[in-house]
Amino acid sequence: MRVLGIETSCDETGIALYDSERGLLAHALYSQVQLHSEYGGVVPELASRDHVRKTLPLVEQVLAEAGVESSDVDAVAYTAGPGLIGALMVGACIGRSLAYAWDVPAVGVHHMEGHLLAPMLEPQPPQFPFVALLVSGGHTQLVDVQGIGQYELLGESLDDAAGEAFDKAAKMLDLDYPGGPRIAAMAERGDERRFKFPRPMTDRPGLDFSFSGLKTYTLTTVRDHAQADGLPDDQTCADIAAAFQSAVVDTLVIKCRRALKQTGRKTLVIAGGVSANQLLRQRLEAKLAEDGNRVFYARPEFCTDNGAMIAYAGCLRLQAGETQGLAIDVRPRWPL
Ligand code: KG4
Ligand code: ZN
Repeated sequence: MRVLGIETSCDETGIALYDSERGLLAHALYSQVQLHSEYGGVVPELASRDHVRKTLPLVEQVLAEAGVESSDVDAVAYTAGPGLIGALMVGACIGRSLAYAWDVPAVGVHHMEGHLLAPMLEPQPPQFPFVALLVSGGHTQLVDVQGIGQYELLGESLDDAAGEAFDKAAKMLDLDYPGGPRIAAMAERGDERRFKFPRPMTDRPGLDFSFSGLKTYTLTTVRDHAQADGLPDDQTCADIAAAFQSAVVDTLVIKCRRALKQTGRKTLVIAGGVSANQLLRQRLEAKLAEDGNRVFYARPEFCTDNGAMIAYAGCLRLQAGETQGLAIDVRPRWPL
């Protein structure tokens, strides 16, 4: 089965063609990061307008790269939520209409299920069951995964998502959006020991997170060391970035180990934009090895939003018999 995947839930237009026999045939991504960077975050209306311009040309590009005629596409999968309503509607309308025109089935995919299954696209995929840490700009969740569609929420952030915290801390340090990769790059020049940031909610039991306190801590530290231009000197900024990143990573690592212990699972899967973070991968690998457990993740380009994860998750859903009718439905909020 050949499935065209369309991802437009936020600020990336991601298109991919997945073949259930041969794997991923082609994929393309257009990022709107430049468009939104001067606003310090995603502007929903601009995102929708850009998806309208980019989606069909990228579909054509992916089909050409795969050497596949549109008549050889067996189904279309599009992100149906959660995400920005206008952006979702663009991908859903185009995806559902292409399927109608090509007379093939369509399926609406949960964006976070796409993230969760993305590590399955790697040469050595994880085996069910596992615990998944979903860490993106909108979500921080620990989920017990028994199989496709069998998800039990173990814990989640009570306020900001981890990615959102990275983005907000970056803004305080005058770094562009998205902040995660910028903080990580700046932290390389920093000394994480100079400032001792808290590891929120790790000293009491449970698997929930809270990152808003870290945001306040960052702001206070920046203000305490600010110079005339409102920012600390360059080395201090790097030290703050390093201390912040280390605090987020340690918090995630502590809760992941706790979730594995609680469920008795031996495998952890990390997915979503923040799972691209190198320090998180390194510390999880080291700590989980101590417990005799393993961590799996996708290649960096499939950690952040992409079409491949939607094509893949859609393919599994279609194989399980799921399809959507002609009435196009999107869900800006949609629990996993
Ligand atoms: O999954 P994603 O592309 O979009 C959502 O579904 O939200 O995640 C984007 C988030 C942003 O907050 C971004 O700052 C963060 O992932 N991110 C990172 C890294 N790369 C992306 N955070 C930390 N380290 C990174 N290397
Ligand atoms: Zn995402």
